[in-house]
Amino acid sequence: MTKLITLTIDGHPVEVPEGTTIFNAAKQLALEIPHFCYHPKLSIAGNCRLCQVEVEGARGPVISCRETVREGMVVRVNSEKAKQVRKDVLEFILINHPLDCPICDQSGECKLQDQYFNHSVQPSRMHLPKVHKPKAKPIGPQVMLDDERCVMCTRCIRFCDEIAGEHQLIMRERGDHSTIDVFPGKQLDHPYSLCTVDICPVGALTSSDFRFKKRVWFLNSTPSICTGCATGCNIWMDHHDRIVYRYRPRDNEAVNQCWLCDPGRMTYKAINAATRALFPMKLVGGAYQRLEWNDALSQVKEVLKSYKAADVVGVLSAQASNEENTAVKRFLEKTFPGLQLFWTGREAMPEFADKILRDADRNPNTHGVQALTTKRLDAQVKAKVLIVLGELTAQDLRLLMSIKPEVTIALADQLPHPEWAHYLLPRATHAEQDGTYVNRKGMEQQAKMAFPPKGESLSAVAIASKLMEIF
Ligand code: SF4
Ligand code: SF4
Ligand code: FES
Repeated sequence: MTKLITLTIDGHPVEVPEGTTIFNAAKQLALEIPHFCYHPKLSIAGNCRLCQVEVEGARGPVISCRETVREGMVVRVNSEKAKQVRKDVLEFILINHPLDCPICDQSGECKLQDQYFNHSVQPSRMHLPKVHKPKAKPIGPQVMLDDERCVMCTRCIRFCDEIAGEHQLIMRERGDHSTIDVFPGKQLDHPYSLCTVDICPVGALTSSDFRFKKRVWFLNSTPSICTGCATGCNIWMDHHDRIVYRYRPRDNEAVNQCWLCDPGRMTYKAINAATRALFPMKLVGGAYQRLEWNDALSQVKEVLKSYKAADVVGVLSAQASNEENTAVKRFLEKTFPGLQLFWTGREAMPEFADKILRDADRNPNTHGVQALTTKRLDAQVKAKVLIVLGELTAQDLRLLMSIKPEVTIALADQLPHPEWAHYLLPRATHAEQDGTYVNRKGMEQQAKMAFPPKGESLSAVAIASKLMEIF
């Protein structure tokens, strides 16, 4: 059994298992000790010195993220001495810092800004020229380095070594000439490179995709999930004015801890894409013509009324939420009792999978859709009418060519390409509606609506309900 140790921190007694650090013991008292290099998922570096506290009997300040507790220890986090140490450490870190906050993309979510305003606020005494280092240096396809802003916490290096398993970043030179770098001829290009941007406490590492697109204080954050694969990583969807700017990891120990993969993060682009289906449309002479919703619905009804259930095939989607699939299934089964129901989704990609997060199944809701129909769309399907929820993959399109339906109706959020659907009913994306998805572990997770549907698109639930009303 683990021995328990009792100590006091700022006069409050606390009992923690032997081996706990002072830093983590303070957390139990809801006391957050200022820090840069400490990260709960990485090894202890103990190099930034910002977390130093006063310990009774110790010869000098103690590094709280590294020092473990002892019975009867008396710790002071907010004594005058401890506060002065923090102030001195911040002044030291800022000696060569460029103080270019107004043009730094981290401004507004920078831990150095926060710590300075909370624990320092003193004018610079530095009158000598500052040491200059590389600025806006691409160190990989996704990540830009501004070395002058780096506080040398080594979080990025430890992340690559310990979590991504790729020794791609190093620190070279010494003292105030230290720089973060990649090996000559190499890049920071593993599939989790943007996690280094998340954990960099300052504006030294920024995302090439996001930088200078939007000041962070304009962004709204909605809890959602990544739909890039069956892992269903939890995200914050950051958006403004119905445009999504980035995904950030949302902590969930059981799913993605605090990480996301780079390809998953980039899936937000489909929400903003110029190819979004925003209006009901009809294929006329090989091109789409816009329709009013009422006309589209009545034309669909008119076209479908001459077919029997045996002619119709419904296709649900592993890309769509449980609510969308259920609503479309209900409409189809009520209107064409006994019709054949299949599901589809992106093809599996074994090379996408890894032991960190990524799954070969690149659909967010395969378990969910399989609870509604177990039959995957295949070449044996015979249909005169195909009613499809979601997009068709290249493999599905080949199938479609072989089935040659007379009528195809799509509830899709992207314009069908090539133009395979005779009628297009524009469907909202997962950013524009609430929805639940069942991930590869069988966990049902919710994506919340970030903003109302774009254009005249509607959630598939709303489309199915409109169809129910008129049939
Ligand atoms: S680049 Fe950022 S994460 Fe890496 S050492 Fe510098 S401050 Fe730390
Ligand atoms: S692992 Fe899958 S769910 Fe997670 S971020 Fe990557 S693509 Fe998205
Ligand atoms: S957080 Fe403890 S030394 Fe950096």
